[in-house]
Amino acid sequence: MKRIFSGAQPTGNVHLGNYLGALRNWVALQRDYESFFCIVNLHAITAPQDPKMVAAKTRELARIYLAVGIDPNVSTVFVQSDVPAHAELTWLLNCVARVSELERMTQYKDKVRKHEENVSVGVFDYPVLMAADILLYQTDLVPVGEDQKQHLELTRDIAIRFNRDYGQTFVVPDPFIPKVGARIMSLADPAKKMSKSDEESEAGCIMLLDNDEAVRRKFKRAVTDSGTEIKFDESRPAINNLLTIYHLLTNKTPAEIEEQFKGKGYAALKQELADVCIEFLKPIQERIRSIDDDKLSQILEQGAERAEAIAQLTLNHAKKGLGLIGARS
Ligand code: TYM
Repeated sequence: MKRIFSGAQPTGNVHLGNYLGALRNWVALQRDYESFFCIVNLHAITAPQDPKMVAAKTRELARIYLAVGIDPNVSTVFVQSDVPAHAELTWLLNCVARVSELERMTQYKDKVRKHEENVSVGVFDYPVLMAADILLYQTDLVPVGEDQKQHLELTRDIAIRFNRDYGQTFVVPDPFIPKVGARIMSLADPAKKMSKSDEESEAGCIMLLDNDEAVRRKFKRAVTDSGTEIKFDESRPAINNLLTIYHLLTNKTPAEIEEQFKGKGYAALKQELADVCIEFLKPIQERIRSIDDDKLSQILEQGAERAEAIAQLTLNHAKKGLGLIGARS
């Protein structure tokens, strides 16, 4: 069986963009692949965090994975820092990745632009840790949103270089970026992607934990384009984004949706979107609350054990390739 690996950071709140661009596909693919879904808490600490929040958000994100439909009997769900091989392989790959490659990463460049001096070395090295995550599991496919595409290309380059220089060690993974939903935009600013880290964009971001009132308010205030017709049209990013969300939440075809809203205004669409979204979030929020804390600990413990066994094999292989043979090898 081929493998998939993916992860999300336990920072901020999980939003509809994360779900539609990534988590939804994890759920859809999990039975066709051997699947690993990681809560990447080592990535989360590349920016300063309140340690209590990191711990709480890590467990909350695990609950969200389960609540959206990741089945722990089918998929391996685990916390990144529980498997030390992630950090260890990162060091090995650091010695293969090039500074010039990391300097080209757009997410890194954006952070440097915004925070100038205060960017940690971890932010710079972030894509190498991500490569380690993926390569440890001999991953074939990585389901992610469009913003991770560049990191995936780097992962492939690192794997190819390592295999060339130190012998065949890693499967070279392919990204799985959905045709629709890979880049859900902010409701407040359709030129920006929906994002959990951007403080200003709260109003444009539907969180999976939002209550009904917040969902209604955010859709009601969603920015729209000029023109009144409700049509899928990439030259009108605001309406296109709202319709894409509606399409993904209802599974109705674009033609059906356009027919449904023919002659109706934006207000009708926004109201219908809010209704559909609230209905979609309700069972997820109920499941999040109903997951027993001990059960969750048990799932994460088993997940870490399963992940560790595979990760360790790859790590040993990579260490041997590099000549890192010690007294215990
Ligand atoms: P993170 O936590 O920012 O986001 C989790 C997933 O959500 C996708 N996503 C979006 N998709 C569509 N529209 C949006 N507006 C949107 N915003 C976010 C992301 O593309 C991602 O798939 N670096 C990763 C976490 C990571 C990872 C990995 C992923 C660490 N190691 C290994 C895959 C494999 C990140 O920060 O995702």
